[in-house]
Amino acid sequence: MKLKLFFEKHKTVLLWIVFVTTVVAVFLLGLLAASINERRAEIATLYKNKKVEIKGIEPRNEIWGENYPREFETWKKTSEMDFSSKHLGNTEKDVLEQRPAMVILWAGYAFSQDYGEPRGHSYAVTDVVRTLRTGAPMNDKDGPQPGTCWSCKSPDVPRMMAEMGVEKFYSVKWGSLGSEIVNPIGCADCHEPETMNLQISSPALKEAYDRMGKDISASPIQDMRSLACAQCHVEYYFKGEGKYLTFPWDSGMTVEAIEKYYDNIEFTDWTHKLSKAPMLKAQHPDFELFRMGPHAQRGLACADCHMPYKTEGAIKFSDHQLVSPLKYIDRTCQTCHRETTEKLVSYVYEYQDKALEIRDRVESELAKTHIGAKFAWDNGAGEKQMEKVLKLLRAAQWRWDFAVASHGASFHAPVETQRILAHSLDKTYQAQIELNKVLSSLGVKGEIPMPDISTKEKAQSYIGLDMKDLREKKDEFNKSIVPSWKEKATANKRLLR
Ligand code: HEC
Ligand code: HEC
Ligand code: HEC
Ligand code: HEC
Repeated sequence: MKLKLFFEKHKTVLLWIVFVTTVVAVFLLGLLAASINERRAEIATLYKNKKVEIKGIEPRNEIWGENYPREFETWKKTSEMDFSSKHLGNTEKDVLEQRPAMVILWAGYAFSQDYGEPRGHSYAVTDVVRTLRTGAPMNDKDGPQPGTCWSCKSPDVPRMMAEMGVEKFYSVKWGSLGSEIVNPIGCADCHEPETMNLQISSPALKEAYDRMGKDISASPIQDMRSLACAQCHVEYYFKGEGKYLTFPWDSGMTVEAIEKYYDNIEFTDWTHKLSKAPMLKAQHPDFELFRMGPHAQRGLACADCHMPYKTEGAIKFSDHQLVSPLKYIDRTCQTCHRETTEKLVSYVYEYQDKALEIRDRVESELAKTHIGAKFAWDNGAGEKQMEKVLKLLRAAQWRWDFAVASHGASFHAPVETQRILAHSLDKTYQAQIELNKVLSSLGVKGEIPMPDISTKEKAQSYIGLDMKDLREKKDEFNKSIVPSWKEKATANKRLLR
């Protein structure tokens, strides 16, 4: 009643306020549209002044660089290794050395041999050739892994897919493509050469959208500024014998929806060497988790923080370095937030530190539970008895990995990341309760004996890895075969340098 009276009394003023607000909003939207159009016009001019005609899938970034030197010069900076924030950065770090419990969590899977922090895009090809995870050629000279492992590393991937067919590309052996996949992640992964519009070159992303009944080619520009990254920064798996790269989004993009997808098709990445649990490995669901955070909810895209605008004279262009936004806070966070650099950095660290408190608890408790499960098997536990423990271990570790493998998640979506980690810890403790029931039914008393896993080396030797042998084989392979890939690639002008 009071409100109505208030409205009657101030009707004219209120209507004026509404009117003026609307005018201002329309004006601001107009400015935004004008600035987008202006940028489109700038890009069109850039394109008119181009020096070389680019046709088809051109994987050589240097050629694009002739037309677009500013983007190219900043793209080259993805090779810099000069920035460390509190937890991330573009330098090399051996994660297993920092957190040896992860060796136990991945026992029986290649990640227990070698796992490093990501660095810039220009290292993508080097790093996939170097990692022990792509293996040394054992019985087969082309190694144990499929062609699918080259996905997300190079614009030579879409080029070869167009040449060989997508299915064939995935199903051949990894090593057989070594002389073809040579240029690191680049222009052709994200741009159409004729218009410089953003494009999706990854079949897996297009197919996932098709299965969700969405047409990805109809996405607005702001969505494309994230979808370009979603070609690679997502959860995925290799489907069936043909190792077909697939994004498991059919029932949704949450940690539970994706788990349901894998459970329905009874998918497992590997059987855990100690606990024998049927495990899932999460990749890096950056896009899926980012969508649930406060910035995505306000309409921001990956490029808003990771590809800020840069000005050179009168020209404004997108920085293609793709690095931690904390490196250039003045051009990232501070384009929207008025707080000081220290304050903005402290927000990020606070979110990260809080997530890491739970993450570290989960890692040590999960490792204990795998070791305890092995102890139960050693004491004669039966499959039926162990069923609940193993199911809980699978669910707990899936949640931990999903939250942690996406390195930016604790900032991108802090609440969702905490929620997932909390469920992971809960399921780990449930697994321990079930395990204790099994042990007491077997009449085993006292503490579960714990090995010394305080360093990466000790943990690796406990799970039975002969690291010296693995490294020697890999070195031998890289010395004997990789130079011939390079030679062949240079002879075929696949590489400019
Ligand atoms: C990971 C995806 C990705 C890669 C790789 C990439 N770009 Fe871009 N590029 C973008 C995004 C996102 C934008 C912003 C587009 C927009 O806002 O419309 C952009 C914008 C551009 C523009 C428009 C002008 C500007 O700077 O905003 C040019 C020109 C361009 N990129 C050239 C290149 C060149 C040359 C390469 C290779 C050296 C390259 N890009 C590699 C994602 C990429
Ligand atoms: C073609 C696949 C692909 C695309 C597209 C892609 N990335 Fe990446 N990204 C990678 C890979 C692979 C690495 C790790 C490279 C390494 O460590 O050798 C990486 C690493 C990164 C890093 C870590 C860099 C560092 O300095 O530690 C950031 C940040 C990043 N990408 C952001 C993005 C953003 C934002 C986009 C979209 C504009 C994008 N990426 C598009 C594959 C891709
Ligand atoms: C609101 C700004 C913002 C947006 C938008 C954003 N990020 Fe981030 N991202 C960050 C911050 C801050 C970090 C943590 C950097 C640090 O700790 O040094 C980060 C970290 C990352 C990392 C880890 C980098 C590393 O060094 O290992 C990747 C990869 C990444 N983001 C990818 C993405 C992708 C893909 C998207 C879109 C789906 C996205 N980001 C959207 C701010 C953002
Ligand atoms: C393009 C604009 C933009 C950029 C760039 C940006 N933000 Fe934001 N940020 C927003 C908006 C909009 C909100 C929501 C504000 C609200 O609702 O009050 C927000 C919210 C936040 C919040 C509160 C989140 C919550 O839990 O609700 C923090 C913290 C934050 N931003 C930090 C950062 C940091 C750190 C960076 C740089 C890495 C950054 N932002 C970059 C626009 C931006």
